[in-house]
Amino acid sequence: MQDTSPVVSLPISPNPVPFTIAHRGLSAHAPENTLAAVRAAQRIGCQWVELDVQLLGDGTPVIWHDNGVRRCSNNRGKLAKLDLAKAKALDVGTWFSADFQGERMATLEEMLALIGELGLGLNLELKVNRGRDALALVDTALPMALRALPADRLIVSSFNQEALEAARRLESDAQRLRLGVLYEKPTRQWYQEAERFAAYSLHVDWRRLKEKRAREIKEAGYQLFCYTANDPVAFARLWPWGVDAVISDDPSLFEHHLPGSSHQRP
Ligand code: G3P
Ligand code: MG
Repeated sequence: MQDTSPVVSLPISPNPVPFTIAHRGLSAHAPENTLAAVRAAQRIGCQWVELDVQLLGDGTPVIWHDNGVRRCSNNRGKLAKLDLAKAKALDVGTWFSADFQGERMATLEEMLALIGELGLGLNLELKVNRGRDALALVDTALPMALRALPADRLIVSSFNQEALEAARRLESDAQRLRLGVLYEKPTRQWYQEAERFAAYSLHVDWRRLKEKRAREIKEAGYQLFCYTANDPVAFARLWPWGVDAVISDDPSLFEHHLPGSSHQRP
């Protein structure tokens, strides 16, 4: 397959996490949440990726976003109805492009091995879709992630507060497990919530973020990540608010629009 991904050179962030994180892998150029998408992200110079983890019906943790498989595979049905054999029978690449025909759903184990091999950082989102068991997901996925990656190359995030609470119960040391609280829009209680989980970062939909809230989050000492931004020009006004990283389907778009980049907006 011909590699059409752009080659980029991204400015170095002063923080432990780079300015850009590839959303679901390099999902603009490869099928989301696959091994291929992570390899593609690494090839263009991304140092961190964001991926979603859920359990199959047989309890195997896999890298997948939706409740069902219809959007991103050649079949339909609920993820919770699949065992590993059935999940591995799916083609999860062709829906994106014929170049990815035969791509298979990645287990968390396979993905952690690849992330380790490539030396990447991982923002692992505990994806608790409707009707799914947050505690079972944490109990299965979190110990695997903690075993596979050093603390400075892992952030575990979730919209689901039951999952965040269980994760913090499982590893109470905030240095050993960095937790990210996901919000579409930070609630009024964001500070209490961040304190409760001993959070490292808040991850916010960039279109819903206001300057006042961004500055409060930074003043309170949290890392501030914004998802999912693919328009670096529109996003430029947010960097001065103290945003630490942007989660993008294509981080190469931000190459000349990052703090410290020679082409950035003054
Ligand atoms: O972690 C940021 C982002 O992935 C959250 O939304 O739906 O893309 O998982 P979603
Ligand atoms: Mg996600």
